[in-house]
Amino acid sequence: MQNGRPSETARAIGHIRARHQTAENGLIFNDPLAVPILGEPVLPETDLDRGLHPDVVRRRRLYIAARSRFADDCAAAAIARGTEQVVILGAGLDTAPYRNAHKNVQFFEVDHPDTQTWKHHLLRKSGIVIPDSLTFVPIDFDQSTLADGLAEAGLDRTRSAAYIWLGVSVYLTRPAVDATLSYITDHAGSEVVLDYFYPVTSTPREHTTDQLQARAESTARLGEPWHTFFTADEISSLLKSFGYKQIVDQSGSELVATYDDRAIARPTESGPHVIHAYAA
Ligand SMILES: C[S@@+](CC[C@H](N)C(=O)[O-])C[C@H]1O[C@@H](n2cnc3c(N)ncnc32)[C@H](O)[C@@H]1O
Repeated sequence: MQNGRPSETARAIGHIRARHQTAENGLIFNDPLAVPILGEPVLPETDLDRGLHPDVVRRRRLYIAARSRFADDCAAAAIARGTEQVVILGAGLDTAPYRNAHKNVQFFEVDHPDTQTWKHHLLRKSGIVIPDSLTFVPIDFDQSTLADGLAEAGLDRTRSAAYIWLGVSVYLTRPAVDATLSYITDHAGSEVVLDYFYPVTSTPREHTTDQLQARAESTARLGEPWHTFFTADEISSLLKSFGYKQIVDQSGSELVATYDDRAIARPTESGPHVIHAYAA
């Protein structure tokens, strides 16, 4: 991220979710706050889309919608099982805490302080009410520990929690990713939804490699270069080494196909993958 400035990728992803509401009518992820929270007209093309084939732009939009839907679904299932704490790490313009209909659930939004200050401004501007059930936790993952910030914010580590960590791991250093996963998995009764990226060179298809390279370059241009990649085996081993036993891994297209009948599920070893993992 650029010093003193909110995350540009958070803004772009917010626009992509909003565009899903207008272009696909919220087919996969229906979020009535996705457009209002932007505080500006929905962009037909974001800075992340430049140089990409329109099909790739559309597939990425459906993936962004699907991962948010999946996070909401997993959090709702955890809440139905009795979890009363949801922690959103690197929340960006995620609107889950403002749409929450569950009673007795505490949300924690963790994000870089510069992004969080900007989000406060957007919430005020759009008139979206901040519920009492939400606590903001400003943290730079590369500089400070989640443990200090979340303890101060009142997260109860003796009670279960669902952690949502989407669109962040690729931007962090490997030590920051390890420290975050160690903190999450050390929380008894925790579960996590996260996404990660395969190394860009691992894909066998040249066209896809070019498009992924273009995506990597576009985030770097925004001052948020990709740093940390995993294969499914690598991240699964890491989570297991931290004590998690249940790890469900889906490629981006497999995830989209669970919500969109017309999409084709491809178990690719490239691009983004989403994991839902827990201990028992
Ligand atoms: C691509 S956005 C994803 C936002 C959100 N999870 C979503 O899916 O819309 C990346 C998020 O990671 C946060 N982030 C990046 N580097 C960070 C850091 N070092 N510490 C804290 N947050 C960071 C940014 O502020 C931003 O909100």
